Amino acid sequence: MHLPDPMIDGDVSLERTIHKRRTIRSFESKALTLKQLSQVLWAAQGITDIGEFKRAAPSAGALYPMDIYGVVGKDCIEKMDPGIYLYEPAGHSISLVKEGDFRRDIAIASLGQIWMAHAPLTLVITAEYSRITVKYGQRGIRYAIMEAGHIGQNIFLQSQAMGLEAGIVGAFEDQEVIQVMGSKKTHEPLLLMPVGYKR
Ligand SMILES: Cc1cc2nc3c(=O)[nH]c(=O)nc-3n(C[C@H](O)[C@H](O)[C@H](O)COP(=O)(O)O)c2cc1C
Repeated sequence: MHLPDPMIDGDVSLERTIHKRRTIRSFESKALTLKQLSQVLWAAQGITDIGEFKRAAPSAGALYPMDIYGVVGKDCIEKMDPGIYLYEPAGHSISLVKEGDFRRDIAIASLGQIWMAHAPLTLVITAEYSRITVKYGQRGIRYAIMEAGHIGQNIFLQSQAMGLEAGIVGAFEDQEVIQVMGSKKTHEPLLLMPVGYKR
């Protein structure tokens, strides 16, 4: 599914978004628009250069070992069925990995942080280490983990700039998250970021 084109201008200053950014753990059940989903995925890993290659967040050696999944709840994003989706930067599109509302399962896999289940969307930042260790060896793992931080901050700031809020979760059972998502076993989840309107 192709996503709406992202905006590259906004109404809120970068300084204000940095000032206002907070980790939020309480979300309204209000649905998001497809445009909001598009924008936050673009900020995470969208292609931003003219040659259509480099992305919104930096990557050691431009090897891009990261993938972003979206956990979408029922009636949570307009025109979208609930499910687990994978973002494809090349086409600025998403593909369905698994159908169903798995927000509660993801929250349980996150050591029972049930507040997460109320967010309409949770983005899962994953790393496929082999895509970077092939050049940098073991040090590539460190680089990929750093990249998750860059992507996470982009998600925070973009959410804030659109009037949304985000949370960030590092406490979860890796294998349980992979199993719930039906994602590739080599895609190691590093950060989970619930996104929505603050309650
Ligand atoms: C790597 C990392 C993992 C985190 N994991 C969790 C988590 O599992 N659950 C949670 O509620 N907050 C988590 N947080 C959020 C921190 O508690 C939060 O950033 C901190 O309290 C500072 O608040 P602020 O983000 O609002 O400035 C995590 C933050 C980071 C950077």
